[in-house]
Amino acid sequence: MTSPLTPRLGLPDLGCGIGLRIPHYASIFGAGPALDFLEIISENFMVDGGRPLDNLARTLERYPVVQHGVSLGIGASTPLDFDYLERLRALTRVTKTPWVTDHLCWTRTPAALDRASVDLHDLLPLPYTEEAVHHVAARVRQVQDFLELRVGLENTSSYMTFRDSTMTEWEFLSAVVEEADCAILLDVNNVYVSAYNHGFDPRAYLDAIPHRRVIQIHLAGHTNKGAYILDTHSDFVIDTVWDLYRHTCRLLGPVSTLVEWDDEIPELEVVWGEAKKAAQIRAEVERERAA
Ligand SMILES: [Fe+2]
Repeated sequence: MTSPLTPRLGLPDLGCGIGLRIPHYASIFGAGPALDFLEIISENFMVDGGRPLDNLARTLERYPVVQHGVSLGIGASTPLDFDYLERLRALTRVTKTPWVTDHLCWTRTPAALDRASVDLHDLLPLPYTEEAVHHVAARVRQVQDFLELRVGLENTSSYMTFRDSTMTEWEFLSAVVEEADCAILLDVNNVYVSAYNHGFDPRAYLDAIPHRRVIQIHLAGHTNKGAYILDTHSDFVIDTVWDLYRHTCRLLGPVSTLVEWDDEIPELEVVWGEAKKAAQIRAEVERERAA
């Protein structure tokens, strides 16, 4: 097991925060709750001007901000989109984000004969093969060099697997980040969702990944449909995921932790309450460690 005190690739622990969402703007710009940091969806601010950038400037006056993206498409077989990367890099210069994260997935089909490339607007899983490891890792290295920032890959929740896979999801994630020399954004809820949907042990996943590469954690709620779980980000974090978070903190030590709530978004105080719960668990684990 990696030492819990291993530094996170030299990157800071920002504490506990939440994702910046439009319904909370008035509260964020008003009293300004005592959140340690906010995460923005990069694509929402990759514009030339106007209200989004005004809102971003007001946010940056008060909080450290980290950038999280949804359309890098690091696993796709289409070429990397350097127009997108230029705009992403420009935004990183504004936010001074300490890292950039996106998902370990593919989102875009390749162009074929008479068909243009199509963005499917979904975070689609990859086959867990050596070929895919090398493909993704080479692209991550290019992106990190271009952005001059560490990239963190987030494990997605998934609902299908490929017959061609030759390794587990956690073996695949570990192999990619080691070969790419990049970081992990560990979504503990996604580990639980995929474990439920595919029938593996979530603790085996958490125990096996390279802990020193985890620079950020995501927590969220989901919707249990019985036969499967949908990753809806529309509810409170469930107790089993809090237990997995506590287990993760014991393995990793304190890591920047962020609560995502994207659908049926409640008042800021409710989401903030989830971040405070994460902070409490982190503190309890640190007290255990010190005892
Ligand atoms: Fe996430």
